[in-house]
Formats: sequence, structure tokens, C-alpha cells
Amino acid sequence: MTRAVIIGVTGRMGRALVRAASTTLASAPDGLRITGAIASPGSSSLGQDAGELAGVGALGVPVSADLRAALAQADVAIDFSQLQATGANLATCRAARKALLIGTTGFGDDITATFAAAATDIPLLVAPNTSVGVTLLVELVRAAAKALPLDFDIGILEAHHKMKVDAPSGTALALGRTAAEARGLPDPMLTRAALTNRIGERRRGDIGFAVVRAGDIVGEHTVMFAGEGEQLCLTHRATDRAIFAKGALQAGLWLASQPPGLYNMRDFLGLKTEA
Ligand SMILES: NC(=O)c1ccc[n+]([C@@H]2O[C@H](COP(=O)([O-])OP(=O)(O)OC[C@H]3O[C@@H](n4cnc5c(N)ncnc54)[C@H](OP(=O)(O)O)[C@@H]3O)[C@@H](O)[C@H]2O)c1
Repeated sequence: MTRAVIIGVTGRMGRALVRAASTTLASAPDGLRITGAIASPGSSSLGQDAGELAGVGALGVPVSADLRAALAQADVAIDFSQLQATGANLATCRAARKALLIGTTGFGDDITATFAAAATDIPLLVAPNTSVGVTLLVELVRAAAKALPLDFDIGILEAHHKMKVDAPSGTALALGRTAAEARGLPDPMLTRAALTNRIGERRRGDIGFAVVRAGDIVGEHTVMFAGEGEQLCLTHRATDRAIFAKGALQAGLWLASQPPGLYNMRDFLGLKTEA
């Protein structure tokens, strides 16, 4: 049985993780059990039972702000909290030599070196999207971007609920980077191609992003390859955030038994990238 700490347990994803753990993985003898539930020091939910908070009945795991203490009873931490908390959570997991899956999104490139350094000591999986479908979408985009000529323009459209703070989504950026890399182009975040909803003449090779924030949309991503006279659109539509929770728990279970290193969802699924 693998023991997991959920960081950000009071949030939408945190509660979905607790629900998913109680229904899918907890029953298997080699499954995953939640032994720690972490919120911010100012959380109004401190002391409440994480299971009751998630609507699955008492688990005997109170919400706490003490990650260090929770890690002492755990094999892996799964973080879906806030960008500002990631650095401290990573440092605490590294000091405790415990595996960490980061599902939180919104990082800039400045954190890449920190991830790489921590991964020399712990298994670290960074996943801007923990859905199995999106992981496959990334691979399909890689193949399409490589196969189609440069005169097929690439546009990335994404839509999320109105509470989401970062834009474009971490997944949209990952899709853009994958397409650029497959075409041998620079990282789209380093070029003016990253400008969202930019109006004006398109430069050859630009990758554009369009963002919608509305209602309770769980997450939609379309990568459009638009040529002269034809379009290829690859779309993933999430209708239930349980898919992210299930993917994160399964990946967390896998991560707990890996050696130190920097991993992504592709590694977890065993998908090989063709050179
Ligand atoms: N990787 C994926 O597939 C995926 C899927 C969906 C969402 N996400 C990302 O996951 C993150 C969370 O999303 P969400 O929709 O669940 O947001 P949310 O509902 O706002 O939940 C975040 C929770 O983090 C807690 N928190 C804040 N500071 C903290 C700290 N220092 N330590 C521990 N907990 C802290 C907050 O609770 P308290 O105030 O009670 O502390 C809050 O409830 C976002 O970055 C989102 O973009 C990723």
C-alpha cells in the first residue's frame, strides 16, 4: 500500500483526488491510501476530516498545514495547490526525500533549474495535465506538426472555468511547445507567436493561442492545423475533473517506486517519443 499526502486538499482538485482515492485505488492491496491532507496555514478547513470535506465520509485524516510531519507518514506527495506554494512544497519534499507529483500549473521557465536540481534527490513528476487523453493528444500533435508542411498554421484554442487564474493553460503551452519543437522552431513562449488572441498578419511558423474563461468548463483544448483548403483539428474535452484526479493518483502510485529523476506523464504511460 502506497501512502500519499494531498497538498491543496481543500480545493476543487484536492477534493476530487480524495473522492477518486476512496473509490478506485483504495481497495486494491497494492493501491494508494491518503494519509496526509495539507492546506495553507490560513485555511478555514484546518482540523476538518479530509474525507468529510470531499463528501466521502470520515477518513481519519485531518486537514493540516504541516507538510513535513505528513511526509513522515507517506511515500509520495501530490500537489494541486497554488503556484506560490510550489517552491516551498518542493523544498520540503526534497529535504524529506519523498517523491512529489506537481499538478499545479502556471510556472514560468525560471523554475526549470529548481525542478532539475530537486530531481537529483527525489522522483519528481511535473504534469500540467494528468489526463491520459491529453497525454496522448500531445503525442498526436507532435506527429501532426512533424508531418504537415510549415504552411499549415498552428492555432491553439483552450477554454476553462471562470475561476482559473493562469492563461494560456499549462496544457495549451505544453501543446505549443511540443508543436514548435517538432517543427524545429523556437519555444513559442520566447517569440511573439505566444501573444494571445493577437490581431495582425501572421508570420510563417507563428503559433497562436486563444483563451476562453467562462462558466464551469472543466477543460477543452483544440490544436488546429490550418492549411489552404483543409484543416486538421485535434480536440480533447474534459467533462469531469475526476479524470485528472484518477490520472494523478495512478501516476503518483507509479512515481513512488521510481528512482530520483525528472518525469512527465509520458514517462508514466511508457510513451516513447520518436526522434
Ligand atoms: N495537472 C492537471 O491535470 C490539473 C487539473 C486541474 C487543475 N490543475 C491545477 O491545479 C491547481 C489547483 O486547482 P484547483 O482548481 O483545485 O484550485 P483551487 O480550488 O483554488 O484549490 C487550490 C487549493 O490550494 C489550497 N492552498 C493554497 N495555498 C496552499 C498552500 N500553501 N499549501 C497547501 N494548500 C494551499 C487552497 O486551500 P486553503 O485556502 O484551504 O489552504 C485551495 O483550496 C491549479 O494550479 C490548477 O491550474 C491542474
